[in-house]
Amino acid sequence: MAEKSIDDNSQRLPTHIVLVGLMGTGKSSVGRQLASVLHRPFVDTDKKVEARAGKNVRDIFETEGENAFRSLESQIVADVLHSQNSSVIAAAGGVVTQEVNRDVLLRQREDGRCVVVWLQADMNELLARVKKGVHRPLLDADPSGTLTSMARDREQFYEQVASVVVDTSGLTIAEVADEILVQLRGLQ
Ligand code: S3P
Repeated sequence: MAEKSIDDNSQRLPTHIVLVGLMGTGKSSVGRQLASVLHRPFVDTDKKVEARAGKNVRDIFETEGENAFRSLESQIVADVLHSQNSSVIAAAGGVVTQEVNRDVLLRQREDGRCVVVWLQADMNELLARVKKGVHRPLLDADPSGTLTSMARDREQFYEQVASVVVDTSGLTIAEVADEILVQLRGLQ
């Protein structure tokens, strides 16, 4: 019975649930969990970029540069958001820095086709979590300084696109997913 009511809820939710937030906020882990609970496919924009480029994020940054990465990322963002198949999308931390991506997110949000969830975490948790990822060349030199300035520079963009905000500090992945569902139901 519980499973059925989750499916029903999934059908009433917008086509795409998009997770945004800084590197280390748990977008991919939480997204996978949420997708599993809602029986939806999980889409990670970094993985899509890697598949389309035929190389990993680090290699794209090193051989083609950040601009090339951002341009491919924007193509992926547009493609996944225009897809008719409902999904849970982890949008990589820098997606919101590009106006074209914010425009797509805001348009889809206005049309009721997506809801954007901003995951936050305190700096110590972010720093602990980003140690695990190899796909974050921007953090090679000074993770703490870079994440601090990213938090300052990007906050306005996350705020602009998101209609739900969840502070993940101290929460498990399952707890964050539950909190997102509670807030999404509150929007219905
Ligand atoms: C980036 C975030 C990374 C990855 C790349 C750049 C950013 O993804 O796209 O290293 O600019 O914030 P995650 O947010 O999934 O770590």
